[in-house]
Amino acid sequence: MAGCKQGWVCILHLFSFPVVQQWAEIFRRLIIMKKVKGEIYLPGDKSISHRAALFSSFGKHKAEFQNFNFNEDCSATLKCLESLRIQWRIKQSVLQIEGKPISEWQPSNSPLDAKNSGTTTRLLSGILANLSFKSALTGDSSLRMRPMKRILDPLKQMGAMIESNNNLLPLQFYPVEKLKNIRYKLPVASAQVKSAVLLAGLFADGQTEVIEPVQTRDHTERLLGLKIVQNADGSKSIFSSGDVEIPDLSMEIPGDFSSAIFFITAALLLPGSELLIKNISLNPTRTGFLDILKKMGAKIEQNISVDNPEPSGGLFIKHSFLKNIEIPASSIPNIIDEIPALAILASQSEGKFILRGAEELRFKESDRLKALAENLKAIGVNVTEYQDGLEITGPQSLQGGNIKSYNDHRIVMAFAIANLIAANQIKIDNPDCVNVSFPDFWDILNNIIEK
Ligand code: S3P
Repeated sequence: MAGCKQGWVCILHLFSFPVVQQWAEIFRRLIIMKKVKGEIYLPGDKSISHRAALFSSFGKHKAEFQNFNFNEDCSATLKCLESLRIQWRIKQSVLQIEGKPISEWQPSNSPLDAKNSGTTTRLLSGILANLSFKSALTGDSSLRMRPMKRILDPLKQMGAMIESNNNLLPLQFYPVEKLKNIRYKLPVASAQVKSAVLLAGLFADGQTEVIEPVQTRDHTERLLGLKIVQNADGSKSIFSSGDVEIPDLSMEIPGDFSSAIFFITAALLLPGSELLIKNISLNPTRTGFLDILKKMGAKIEQNISVDNPEPSGGLFIKHSFLKNIEIPASSIPNIIDEIPALAILASQSEGKFILRGAEELRFKESDRLKALAENLKAIGVNVTEYQDGLEITGPQSLQGGNIKSYNDHRIVMAFAIANLIAANQIKIDNPDCVNVSFPDFWDILNNIIEK
């Protein structure tokens, strides 16, 4: 109502359709009488956990990680390393890994299985391309459909010998003398591709340069302490070579921001909510979701208390009324895993939510644009699906109904939050697939909901 210059315009505004609809929705949510209350501490960030294990496996140190995430994805990374005879163990819930040079790694008796994990596949490929023995890498039916050309192209340019099933898994890696360095401009904004090339560069001749036109998550360069140069055209160059000393990465892994977002979403949606999330990863290349929420009007306070090697700290979230915005295409790599939760919020926020330039979502654990559009329609939301995005005008009430998980953990968690405010239950076909990233999801959700 700010901006109303004349009283009668304000009164008309009060009775306009979106405002009436919003008040009806708020009233309905107050009747639900659920709210989010409390303090939580979440399992370690998935991207950092994968990297902690992988990078320590060829370092000189015996590294120790508190709060390592033993979800299905990161366990797949550990299992692959074990098959290559890297020793690790869990002592009082701390992961210990003893690294050794890749020249001392041993062949696996069977194909390495990345299960559902794209990060395991793409990062490990950068290392497998350098081994002095043959290896094979495969995964579950969803991973076997995900594009691998994006890593095969640069690795082959470096001289790697890799056979694939038409650029899909399974991949067969053959030993080569030594890879050669390349200068590679990322054709797709992907931290996994960037990391695969940089990892391969650690064992290649000379210096490998990856040029990143759009910033993606920077855990690889932070953890390995790689050289970074800001280019005049706004892109960044990141360098790796055999001269890089692998540091002792021992640390307490901060909580997973991409898991926290589901509870942030619940707190924003339920009137009366207040939630404190402690020791959460606040790496700025991951927290674009917070920047967008703040633009939408969210009451969120963040406080970074640790900066090195990974920023982390506390987040405090209060229920807020949000207004939809058009999402800038440049922020998409920074919110790529958060879009399922954002779409649920958009359906409850006032005005038009426009997401374009997000075609990458079609290549995740499921085709997330299709999964979101179909499932939102299934629970009564009017949504437009584009080849590269979604458009939703909110607020709309969620009727409930049956939705398909597409065996995608983030789709399940997003609709579990939608279920908190739906008129009727939202039934999800495979709730257990949250185990891929967040096995404790359902327990923590039950603990923070006050009725
Ligand atoms: C990840 C990078 C992102 C993200 C994935 C984890 C990583 O994938 O979606 O969940 O740890 O590097 P892309 O690099 O394919 O965008």
